[in-house]
Amino acid sequence: MALIDVVAGARPNFMKIAPIIEAIRNRPETGLRYRLVHTGQHYDQRMSGDFFEQLGIPKPDHNLEVGSGTQAEQTAAIMVRYEKLLLEKPSDLCLVVGDVTSTMACSIAAQKLGVPVAHVEGGIRSGDWSMPEEINRMVTDAITNYFFTTSEVANQNLRKAGVSEERIFFVGNTMIDTLLRQLPRLRPPAVWADEQLGDHRFIVVTLHRPANVDAPEKLRAMIDAIIEGTPDTKLVFPVHPRTRKTLAALGYSADTAADGRLVLCEPLPYLEFNFLVKNAMAVITDSGGITEEATVMGVPCLTLRDTTERPETVTIGTNELVGTDPSALAPHLQRLFAGNWKRGAVPPMWDGKAAERIVESLATLLPD
Ligand code: UD1
Repeated sequence: MALIDVVAGARPNFMKIAPIIEAIRNRPETGLRYRLVHTGQHYDQRMSGDFFEQLGIPKPDHNLEVGSGTQAEQTAAIMVRYEKLLLEKPSDLCLVVGDVTSTMACSIAAQKLGVPVAHVEGGIRSGDWSMPEEINRMVTDAITNYFFTTSEVANQNLRKAGVSEERIFFVGNTMIDTLLRQLPRLRPPAVWADEQLGDHRFIVVTLHRPANVDAPEKLRAMIDAIIEGTPDTKLVFPVHPRTRKTLAALGYSADTAADGRLVLCEPLPYLEFNFLVKNAMAVITDSGGITEEATVMGVPCLTLRDTTERPETVTIGTNELVGTDPSALAPHLQRLFAGNWKRGAVPPMWDGKAAERIVESLATLLPD
């Protein structure tokens, strides 16, 4: 009976592991067993607990409780604690997802102990080394044995890096597995009724990248440009903890508003957040995962970044790369308000069955 460590640490990991755990549980005949390792990188009820409850993720078998810190502090704490766990209670495979610090730290600790690593969402690249996530992707993929990929571009990136074909498994997108499963359960958050958003004349805003939110003046310029380009439209902004600190320094709080249009709220749980996105005119974001969800829901998405590691959301989906210069927003918003946004399609293999394919492959890779 092979034992797989399923690793999750931060908010965008939780929707990616939920269907994998479900798929392992649904296939007892494979002999695969798992244990869920939560590193504790995200620990708040709003950033973590809500997602476990809503997505039916079982309680972690191990919580490393690393908490917050600098990049190196978090990486070091996760490595030390995960190594200890592996030494005390070995496992047969370390399965990591996405690109957060926990992804990289656990893959290093595992591989150094000779535990093979599987990376779900392997092979994607933005080329932007100023983002911690890009470093996490590169380091993780350099020591990954088995790559479970979301796109043909990812497959090509891996081939170019010399990864042999038998280590690449093009399975689709587990984040989309979760979205498709949860679509019928989406439900309105309190802000829906409070702000009377039923007329759909609202835009969802999320910003949390250090490059966009750590410098107060940069964040203010971005918010001003968004307000200016969206006449008579409510802007619903669930605020990430990192962004909250900068907004507070700028004097924005839940009660301040651009003539009542800017609605700041706490981070939303999964079902409520995606309900808003599904019913919005558009999303303005610097997240990567949200560009994928908006693409599948057919909602226009404006990404405030200069690069993306998910190019299919632009070439196939509803996403456009606006850039990080606030003045670049205006023409895109004009197009949106003129009703001329492109229509997107869903990228190949984003069909809700990625986790099943992953488990199918794992059963072959880790025979009983
Ligand atoms: C991390 C990921 C990023 C992902 C994002 C989603 C890395 C390098 N970055 O960034 O890819 O898009 O999560 O949220 O792994 N904090 C809380 N409560 C929590 C967790 C964090 O208040 O439960 C605070 C921390 O104290 C810190 C800030 O939020 O000040 C940022 O947390 P951190 O874990 O450093 O990374 P994120 O910016 O959330």
